[in-house]
Amino acid sequence: MKKIAIFASGSGSNFKTIFAKIFSGDIPAKICLIVSNNPNCGAAKFASEKGIKILVLNKIRFPNSIVREKTLLSALINKKTDLICLAGYMKLLPKRVVEKYKGRILNIHPALLPQFGGKGFYGMKVHEAVIAAGVKESGVTIHLVDEEYDHGKIIVQKKVKVRPGETVKSLAERVLKIEHDLYPRVIQAFCRNNGIWENNHPIIEVNIEN
Ligand code: GRF
Repeated sequence: MKKIAIFASGSGSNFKTIFAKIFSGDIPAKICLIVSNNPNCGAAKFASEKGIKILVLNKIRFPNSIVREKTLLSALINKKTDLICLAGYMKLLPKRVVEKYKGRILNIHPALLPQFGGKGFYGMKVHEAVIAAGVKESGVTIHLVDEEYDHGKIIVQKKVKVRPGETVKSLAERVLKIEHDLYPRVIQAFCRNNGIWENNHPIIEVNIEN
């Protein structure tokens, strides 16, 4: 049984779908830890309702960045974390965490990286930029995490067509729906295949959703 730590700062809808797939037995794993910089976010509230341990990691609780980093690393190690899933986490991971869990940290991004990614591209800003650019496709990217925002090796992308008259809100909703399908499937593959993408990256699936 793999142990997954989920990092989230927002509403936590991806976390909730992952939780549901674990609960139903589709993903052979256990959520060992939730990490959030925001104790009042939807993800943190959901975790406490479900009795999952939350580590609130921010400058208010841990003003010293070295202490903050050490606290995070020891919590991950103590919980015997196999996989870290970023699900709307707004902070960069410390270098030592990235090094320790190399190849075992995933992020989901609501666009087709490398476009519309990097610092400043988060939440609705991503979809606003996609609409403003007038591109015909957007989608979801799941990638391994390195020390830069939205930068590591891409594992899966799934495309959606940007429809004529599409609004930021409608695009965001359609993309999020795909996220909720794709992220649990990638995590399931990791858990079943024992971290298959540590050595190769077989799961490139590019689909068009109309
Ligand atoms: C998602 O769109 C994800 O791609 C991005 O942050 C958002 C998190 O949404 N990284 P939620 O909190 O899971 O609803």
